Amino acid sequence: MASTLMPATSPSLQLHSKGKTKLGSCDSNAFLRGQNKNASLKLQPVSRVRMVAAVNVSRFEGISVAPPDPILGVSEAYKADTNEKKLNLGVGAYRTEELQPYVLNVVKKAENLMLERGENKEYLPIEGLAAFNKVTAELLFGADNPILKEQRVATVQSLSGTGSLRLAAALIERYFPGARVLISSPTWGNHKNIFNDARVPWSEYRYYDPKTVGLDFEGMIADIKAAPEGSFILLHGCAHNPTGIDPTPQQWEKIADVIQEKNHIPFFDVAYQGFASGSLDEDASSVRLFAARGMELLVAQSYSKNLGLYAERIGAINVVCLTADAAARVKSQLKRLARPMYSNPPVHGARIVANVVGSPDLFNEWKEEMEMMAGRIKTVRQKLYDSLTSKGNSGKDWSFILKQIGMFSYTGLNKAQSENMTNKWHVYMTKDGRISLAGLSSAKCEYLADAIIDSYYNVS
Ligand SMILES: Cc1ncc(COP(=O)(O)O)c(C=O)c1O
Repeated sequence: MASTLMPATSPSLQLHSKGKTKLGSCDSNAFLRGQNKNASLKLQPVSRVRMVAAVNVSRFEGISVAPPDPILGVSEAYKADTNEKKLNLGVGAYRTEELQPYVLNVVKKAENLMLERGENKEYLPIEGLAAFNKVTAELLFGADNPILKEQRVATVQSLSGTGSLRLAAALIERYFPGARVLISSPTWGNHKNIFNDARVPWSEYRYYDPKTVGLDFEGMIADIKAAPEGSFILLHGCAHNPTGIDPTPQQWEKIADVIQEKNHIPFFDVAYQGFASGSLDEDASSVRLFAARGMELLVAQSYSKNLGLYAERIGAINVVCLTADAAARVKSQLKRLARPMYSNPPVHGARIVANVVGSPDLFNEWKEEMEMMAGRIKTVRQKLYDSLTSKGNSGKDWSFILKQIGMFSYTGLNKAQSENMTNKWHVYMTKDGRISLAGLSSAKCEYLADAIIDSYYNVS
């Protein structure tokens, strides 16, 4: 007979308690320091479960089912739909005009080179492949940027954009206890998870203006100004996700002014270099502008989109410091943080990037392929706009779609309207009204426009 189950659950983090709540070896008050009431450290509703005595009852009984990821969950729902008209505009992954995944030719060539060379599978050092770290920093800052010659950049290969952000978050948590990260409202869904799990307090700055479906620049500046001095300001280097709305070059200057005035630390997330405009240099111009001002900054990089290396998990965290000495110290601590997290990064994607960026022929071919991908997205963006304007007779101005940049378009559809897109039209998208144009073909633009018009006009 099963003895009595005694699950004693207690909140794993008592954020609002006044006493010295301990969580493992971590002093929870440490990350509360410097927080004001607007700062948010939303923790997952996790309970710690203590089973005193249990027979035939799982020790994991107290663990509830986690909600599906709002972005990756969309793909799961799409797969389950049998309707032939279905369209997956949820995940930001590039598709061909036939809506098939695409492996870049330069990637295949780089992989052939690797096979020919018969390279081994030895561990990489904690900081990653040296050839990758060199080219990734050059690609980001420009090969002749003095900050590289002066060895003022700590570059560590990490697990794509997400892993690089997570490593940077761990650095912030350890060396800037209580410092707050400001993130745009809205932002890529995973940013909040990353800072929550790293126990870094965050709050939001205004970014999107629903009235204009454009940038709320005044709000953004005001909120960055109002943040406690020394905050980290998370900025999307280009192709803001989810809105597709980027500041203009003049606005970037103003943003840099305010960040400098307030002694904040810019923290760039660059997940789409080359993919937004088709030009690697243009898409890195925001980061380079800040670096040229002599500012210290953090930059997380990803090769998921621009080289289509989604599953290879290849990216880097770069920390620009005032001195080479500081950069060396930061790098040593990034390695120290990475070691117990994942020990060392995977080699395959790093070799691909090193081969492509490091060879003039492959590099030029990559730029052509990137222009092709960015061009296809621009074409469907224009076609969607044309279809919407020819169908919507109410005179609604859809031109915001053309002003947006990159993979995504923020349609301005609300939750109910987005649900109508999925339930009635089998168009899978996130509930915030974001669609990935990379998953759209020219042939499907008319159908998508019908779905948007119906949802916009017939669902409140
Ligand atoms: C803004 C932003 N940052 C980071 C990432 C990280 O992607 P990954 O971890 O695949 O490199 C993404 C992916 O969609 C993104 O949109």
